Amino acid sequence: MIKQAIIPLAGLGTRLLPLTSVFAKELLPINGKPGIEYILDECIEAGIKEIIFIISKKKKLIKDYFYKDMFYKKIIKKKRDARIIKEYKKILRYKKMIKFVYQNKPLGTGDAVLKTKKYIKDKFFLMLLPDDLIIKKNCSKSMIKIHKRYNSSVMASMNVKKKTVSRWGIYKLAKKIDKNNFLIKDVIEKPAINNAPSNKAVIGRYILPKNIFLKLSKQKPGKGGEVHITDAIQSLINDNHKFIAHNFSGKYLDCGSMQGYIKSSLEIAKI
Ligand code: UTP
Repeated sequence: MIKQAIIPLAGLGTRLLPLTSVFAKELLPINGKPGIEYILDECIEAGIKEIIFIISKKKKLIKDYFYKDMFYKKIIKKKRDARIIKEYKKILRYKKMIKFVYQNKPLGTGDAVLKTKKYIKDKFFLMLLPDDLIIKKNCSKSMIKIHKRYNSSVMASMNVKKKTVSRWGIYKLAKKIDKNNFLIKDVIEKPAINNAPSNKAVIGRYILPKNIFLKLSKQKPGKGGEVHITDAIQSLINDNHKFIAHNFSGKYLDCGSMQGYIKSSLEIAKI
């Protein structure tokens, strides 16, 4: 069973400036609820019991959000407002599940993942990138089912427009398993259009094996001088580790860019 999830949150969020100059993008409201809560709810519904947040000193605000006990207690004592009590209980429930680790220099997603090494107990764990919201169908839950069926690593995937491939990790297919699941042969981080092996992109949900930490600890920085999780995945594939791309059926919302963030709020308000 997959019981632990990790969430990298230590990036700078430059695409959402000026909002991110003082604020953590993951706390920005999407239809009245911080984006990170959608991710937490997805984890809880998928059966995750422990969630590790990778934050930085600059993003301490994220930890503060879950540690406002005194503030809530004082207000609730003064006015017994049912809505506030409900919100506080929800925060308490999240807080119980979350551990915090620090990555104070944003050296890349792979480096962020490596910070969680000593906390991961089982052979596989889930990773969610909080900029990628998937609504209407729980993507993590579907991926956990695929993992159970094939005892393999799994990544969420979708087809993207060829002209946008340089924004994503793009993979080459080894074999079609069924309509929505594919065995991956190669994966490349943000390729140029001419180098992209397909238009099949990896989206921010991964079921990764614990032995990825060994790869990450030896990995040199790649594209843009960052340590990418994609490169460690390629290295595992080279060692014959099985990675399945799962075409999810929910709706993908990109909350990491300004245009995407605005659109996501409008989309979620509709449901
Ligand atoms: P991105 O590179 O897409 O987002 O990282 P960013 O760095 O936050 O924002 P931009 O690109 O400057 O606008 C994907 C995810 O990985 C985390 C980010 O917080 C984000 O959730 N991340 C990235 C880390 O935790 N550490 C890193 O070193 C890099």
